[in-house]
Amino acid sequence: GAGGPLRKGSQAPTPPRSVVGIGNKVAKPDYSEAKIVLAMVGLPARGKSYLSNKLMRYLKWLEYNVKVFNVGQLRRSRARQKAQQSGIQEDHTSSYFSHSNVEATKLRDELAQDSLEMLIQWLKDGGNVGIHDATNSTRSRRAMIEARVAKEKGIYVIFLESICSDPAVIAANVALKVSSGDPDYKDTSREEAKRDFIRRIKEYEAVYETITEPHLSYLRITNVGDEVTLSRINGYLQSRIAFYLMNLHVKPRSIFVSRHGESQYNVDGKIGGDSSLSPRGLEYAKALPGLVRDNIGTAPLTVWTSTLQRTIQTAQDLPYTKLTWKSLDELDAGVCDGMTYEEIEQAYPDDFANRDEDKFNYRYRGGESYRDVVVRLEPVIMELERQENILIIGHQAILRCLYAYFHDLPQTDLPYIKIPLHTVIKLTPKAYGCDEERYMLPIKAVDTHRPKPHVQQLEVPLINSTREYYDK
Ligand code: F6P
Repeated sequence: GAGGPLRKGSQAPTPPRSVVGIGNKVAKPDYSEAKIVLAMVGLPARGKSYLSNKLMRYLKWLEYNVKVFNVGQLRRSRARQKAQQSGIQEDHTSSYFSHSNVEATKLRDELAQDSLEMLIQWLKDGGNVGIHDATNSTRSRRAMIEARVAKEKGIYVIFLESICSDPAVIAANVALKVSSGDPDYKDTSREEAKRDFIRRIKEYEAVYETITEPHLSYLRITNVGDEVTLSRINGYLQSRIAFYLMNLHVKPRSIFVSRHGESQYNVDGKIGGDSSLSPRGLEYAKALPGLVRDNIGTAPLTVWTSTLQRTIQTAQDLPYTKLTWKSLDELDAGVCDGMTYEEIEQAYPDDFANRDEDKFNYRYRGGESYRDVVVRLEPVIMELERQENILIIGHQAILRCLYAYFHDLPQTDLPYIKIPLHTVIKLTPKAYGCDEERYMLPIKAVDTHRPKPHVQQLEVPLINSTREYYDK
């Protein structure tokens, strides 16, 4: 269990076992030994839910099984049940959160415990990281969590404390709580909700104890992006979580993504390769600087490309710092590189059908699968979290993977996401999720998107899979 001092080496650093290949298909990485309770610590309005959700999105993208157990939600659903069964309406205004309210304090401890029980059960049923989203702001509460988890072999607890000393950020978090239709305040005016929520924060402040317990495994984040303290972080998954959280910031910024301009291979319907831009692709490269400037003004921007000609050519007139990433190169189609979909279907009919059946897992002979690409993009994601305004000139499969991370899209949909040519997608991370705008330049290009065929259509040979985009 996790109780008692964690000695170095007391927890085997277990990176996931390597991915098992079955023919052309690839099984999931084996994370079955990774079991962590991540208990949040912090006053209300300190971005705990923000951090929980971000971390969940990242770990899920890496295929860990992650779930947030929000104690506030459990409190509300229990209160609703009670009201239905006995007609007793619990009062959840600030006095409920006062330490001097003995009865409510007991109820709140019970809720935290029950939610922890559900979390532990879920870990035993196959979960990897259960996030206990509560304030857990006293030593006694943390001691309870620690003692309970220590009873479970193979499950470890780490605490994640979020401290925020910037009044503007706190005010923004309070405003978000009050304006987002939070169920605690559904029958209250905004003004009253705000007053009550601020009183609630004061109740917590009165008993708040920052983590100083020397034996606990914890991470403390001060003003997301400013300062991180790590203590007793052991093992592969814990380090990975710590590294991710160390790289986060919450400064406003946008991530722009665009495919390269139309390439000669796109026109020919061929996949992969390292061809140059078509005349229309070159036109796009000429028009891109104006579009970017209109959007970003004089703000700093860095442009990332792959090592392939078509992205470098597309970026050539952009007057910003540029960086080339090998990890951004297009999905490697192995023996099919340079072929059209029709040629692949004829030369490798079984492979072609397998890919349609499970496109995320299908690995080209001598090449890659989407799953492989997700793995190689992990350092790109990490660096994107650290940076501010970035423009990525990339490729269809690569941008699908990155897009799925920002929008939290499932693996089955990922290989079919529409990322048309000659379009800039602007992604702006928000407290929950990501805003999106698309700018299409009026320069024609072929459509390289190949939809998932229906089962009946599998018999029909594909003719002319490239269509004119703007002629439709
Ligand atoms: O057709 C353009 C392209 O970037 C190819 O180089 C690549 O193999 C393909 O798109 C990826 O898309 P899909 O996975 O849908 O075949």
